[in-house]
Amino acid sequence: IHVDWDAVTAEKGGFDHFMLKEIHEQPKAYRDTMLGRVNDDGKGVHFSDLKLTAEQIRNIRNVQIIACGTAYHAGLVGRNIIEKLAHIPVETDVASEYRYRSPIVNKDTLVIVVSQSGETADTLAALREAQANGAHVIAITNVVGSSIARDADDVIATLAGPEIAVASTKAYTSQLIAFYLFGLYMAEIRGTQTTEEITRTLAAMDSLPEQVEKVLEMAPEIKEYAEHIAQHKHLFFIGRGVDYAVVQEGSLKLKEISYIHSEAYAAGELKHGTLALIEDGIPVIALATQEDVIEKTVSNIKEVKARGGEVMVVSYEENREDLLKSVDTVMTIPRTLPILSPALSVVVLQLLAYYASLALEHDVDKPRNLAKSVTVE
Ligand code: G6P
Repeated sequence: IHVDWDAVTAEKGGFDHFMLKEIHEQPKAYRDTMLGRVNDDGKGVHFSDLKLTAEQIRNIRNVQIIACGTAYHAGLVGRNIIEKLAHIPVETDVASEYRYRSPIVNKDTLVIVVSQSGETADTLAALREAQANGAHVIAITNVVGSSIARDADDVIATLAGPEIAVASTKAYTSQLIAFYLFGLYMAEIRGTQTTEEITRTLAAMDSLPEQVEKVLEMAPEIKEYAEHIAQHKHLFFIGRGVDYAVVQEGSLKLKEISYIHSEAYAAGELKHGTLALIEDGIPVIALATQEDVIEKTVSNIKEVKARGGEVMVVSYEENREDLLKSVDTVMTIPRTLPILSPALSVVVLQLLAYYASLALEHDVDKPRNLAKSVTVE
């Protein structure tokens, strides 16, 4: 017998593309990134390997998160996480902007750089700039021997394993897990979350891997919708709060590999200009996982519908019936705590980008003009 076999096919482990394989590796990446950080009793986290002391954490006045591309988008979620859990003001900036805008940094500033590869030139330069100004720099990275890991004062490793596809998936979600863990750690030290609250969040995080499996089972319905949007040239994403951070990543993912033009907007901001672009049949993808603002998002959805937009919304099963009164399509993800929803909702958007790229017969793993790691400024 003749068996078709080559090394690359074998590495893809039965999946058609590295990207799909990496999307499916997320449950494991979540578990691995949490492993060794959560206390045995599930009531706290530890970062005893960090040089950053408890006293420094208590004295932090502000946090700056710096990164590029998908890692920047993880940093946008990171801002929500740290502000919510540890009550510290956070700014998130793209590295190429940060360096040249005279950022206000001092010894009570904690800088967190985020980089899958640990080799991105702009991020490395920003790290050095922050250090030169006296900031303590923590690197969240997937490559512990990288330049960024070497130069940073502390490293929080994401244990996503090697990521081959240019479009980042499991590295991004592992970065989110790192932010949750570190956010809880700071919250514990600063006393901004009770042990009970921390325990509840950790228990909910424990369920995320299984819940991601459930999202992966949505592939057929996501594929069908992706084939529909693949016929469009422009589309929009909207969301509020962490949902806004997640749609920015969803929009980037779609652009990177399907080459469909999309824009991600804060749902409430759409009416201040961009609404002019909504015309008959334009797809608008809304994330609505934050119950405290869901009604506001729904009223933004209605504004879009009134202009002929065609709306798909990602939310929870309990909201399906209500949402169907105002939208065309509803997809539902498993219920989790509001702050943790990005770890599930983004998987829908990753699969959407994947299947749109597939429908358009593009090179999913190696999109045109892009490199996995950009080591020039
Ligand atoms: C490149 C890649 C992106 C990535 C960005 C930052 O542009 O194509 O997918 O998000 O670099 O990479 P890093 O390794 O620093 O996370």
